This record gives sequence, C-alpha cells and structure tokens, in this order.
Amino acid sequence: MELMEAIRSRRSIRKYLPDSVPEEALATVLEAARLAPTACNNQAFRIVVVKDAALREQLVEACKGQKFVGQAPVVLVGCALEAESYPKQAGWLNTFAIDTAIVFDHLTLAAAALGLGTCWIGAFEEAAVQRVLGIPANWRVVCLTPLGAPAERPDPRPRKALEALISCDGW
Ligand SMILES: Cc1cc2nc3c(=O)[nH]c(=O)nc-3n(C[C@H](O)[C@H](O)[C@H](O)COP(=O)(O)O)c2cc1C
Repeated sequence: MELMEAIRSRRSIRKYLPDSVPEEALATVLEAARLAPTACNNQAFRIVVVKDAALREQLVEACKGQKFVGQAPVVLVGCALEAESYPKQAGWLNTFAIDTAIVFDHLTLAAAALGLGTCWIGAFEEAAVQRVLGIPANWRVVCLTPLGAPAERPDPRPRKALEALISCDGW
C-alpha cells in the first residue's frame, strides 16, 4: 500500500476479530517502529508486546475499562526513558513523549498498510500499566494500542480544512 493510502485508510479501531496477528506482520509493524526518528537518535524507548490474555485483561482495567483493548490479540505499550531522552528541545522540552509518539505513528501506519487495526490509547493509569507489566518506575508509559484484525470499518472522522491549520510566511 502506498504511504498516502495508508495514512488515508487508518482509523481508530475499537472492535477486533479474535484472529491472531501473523508473526511476519507483527515483525513488520515493529520494524517500522524501530526505524522511527528520535531526538539526537537517542532511541530511549521500548515497546512491550503483550499477547498473554490474562495480562491484556488487566490492561483493560489499567486503561479505564476500555474493553476493546483486551479484545485484540496483541497490545503494544510504548514506554520511554525520560532520563535518556533529549531534555531541552527549544530549551525547555524533554522529547520522550514526542519520540514515542513518532514511534507509534510509524507503527500504526505500518499496521494500516497491512490491513491491521490499531487505536491510540491515552486514557490509562500509568502506575497501573507499570504494575501489570513490571515496567520500572523510571520508564514512562506514553501510549498503548491494541493490534489486530479489524471487526469494524468506521467512517473517517472529520478533519479541519487545511486553511484552518496552515499559515504561510508567518502566523
Ligand atoms: C494521543 C491520543 C490518545 C488517544 N486516546 C484514546 C483513548 O484512550 N481511547 C480511544 O478510544 N481513543 C483514543 N484516541 C483516538 C482518537 O479519539 C482518534 O484518533 C480521533 O478521534 C480521530 O479518529 P481516527 O483515529 O479514526 O482518525 C487517542 C488518540 C490520540 C492521538
């Protein structure tokens, strides 16, 4: 699938078939993540791949009861080591969340290109996710996504017109 087609076809998927994700497809999705840029090329991130059904069920609780998180056969958890990320973008911003978001954008688009569903999960309790997966306290949990065969085909959500989002040669 061509890149713009993957970008256009990606949707937040909140219903999944129980079918397992082929290992080759999972490897492609994770390779897309590995190739993502990070500030200073620090690569201070780790993705926890969760397949175990009992752990996925515990992640549902950690994700404020979002049941579809546990319905997909795989959950990917994006973590970042704040202390090893670039600390001063623009003089003030630690890039750990930016880096991990780019990693997740790569992998969600790679998944879309393979016909697999994902959904960014930002509503979760960090300490609960850390506890379920044994993630050390100094590794921040930035985002999660279920990964699996979609059981729904949502219409595209509306987006603002380009003119509302872009300005040229100044604010
Ligand atoms: C940072 C971030 C956090 C999000 N957190 C959640 C979430 O916790 N639960 C959920 O169902 N969707 C979540 N979403 C999905 C958004 O609601 C969705 O991307 C948006 O409505 C646009 O729809 P689309 O992804 O189908 O284009 C999140 C998206 C982003 C980018």
